[in-house]
Amino acid sequence: MAFLFVTPTWPTALWKAAMNKVAPKLDVRIWPDGLGRVEDIEYTAAWLPPANVLKGLPNLKVIFSLGAGVDAILKDPTLPAGIPIVRVNDDDLTKRMTEYIVLHVLLHHRQQRRIDANQKQKIWDSFPTHAASALSVGIMGLGVMGQDSALRLRDLGFRVAGWSRSRKAIPGVDCFAGPSEFDAFLGRSDILISLLPATAETDGIINRGTIQKLSRKGPFVAPIIINAGRGRQQVASDILECLDSGELYAATLDVFAVEPLPADDPLWSHPRVTITPHIAADSDPEVICAYVAAQIERHQNGLPLINLVDVKRGY
Ligand code: NAP
Ligand code: GLV
Repeated sequence: MAFLFVTPTWPTALWKAAMNKVAPKLDVRIWPDGLGRVEDIEYTAAWLPPANVLKGLPNLKVIFSLGAGVDAILKDPTLPAGIPIVRVNDDDLTKRMTEYIVLHVLLHHRQQRRIDANQKQKIWDSFPTHAASALSVGIMGLGVMGQDSALRLRDLGFRVAGWSRSRKAIPGVDCFAGPSEFDAFLGRSDILISLLPATAETDGIINRGTIQKLSRKGPFVAPIIINAGRGRQQVASDILECLDSGELYAATLDVFAVEPLPADDPLWSHPRVTITPHIAADSDPEVICAYVAAQIERHQNGLPLINLVDVKRGY
């Protein structure tokens, strides 16, 4: 039995070293150079697998994503049908995301970019501030990541709401569900966060129409967006136009339709856009390899896999 990394855009040698450390007995292979006999390979961890690579593994039993999202696997047009796909649901990854969301909500709430700009010019501008309770934060996606962020923001005193497909009940968080409650959810959100997966239904969801439905009752008059879900969810031209027209106050973007974000993209230089290079929640090689190795062991012992992806649903 062998395990194969198919991660052409990742530092695979580093991941192989991590897997060797946490599972020394596992036969770890790397695509393409260290593939070996394809018949041996029963488990794979893939991220943006080129077409026909997974299809060419005749004895594949499980496909692992090395992150929470699985869009990088599902976009393989030749993905073999019927093979279970397991995604990451691990406290380490979740806590990293929560740090990012809390950091960027606070960055806007405390106007840190304004303070940084003032410091560059040695300006002492002690402008009035407001309490966390003055801001309504709305989180699209109340899954593993969304729920943890919602709880931490709630504990800081923000008025928190969330929106998901199925109804949730989270103490101290206003929970909205489904398309029929989307507008009501938007209407009470001064800061809109996306922690949604990339699916056909969420593609382009952060567009001009969505932005126009957001609350304008908050202290910044215009709303703020934070996208740490996937780049496909944002219509970048709408975001830029809404920033310039004053319909949007500011944006933090961690994910982009094209990554790395091209150097000539106007998002880079917009004064009200904060760009981070898809690092909101970084997969730690040793942590994630330990998670994958534990699931392989479960599977080998006849136990059910956990955190399986519903391929039809897309996440
Ligand atoms: P998850 O547990 O599967 O949660 C996804 C949430 O989105 C669920 O609450 C789901 O609703 C909701 N949802 C999906 N489609 C929807 C729709 N059409 N309308 C309304 N709600 C919808 O996933 P997670 O672990 O929290 O991760 C979420 C996403 O974060 C990942 O898919 C990935 O794209 C992104 N991510 C980004 C980074 C980064 O570094 N930027 C790192 C990790 C993850 P239900 O609860 O009703 O199913
Ligand atoms: C990263 O983007 C992930 O999906 O974990």
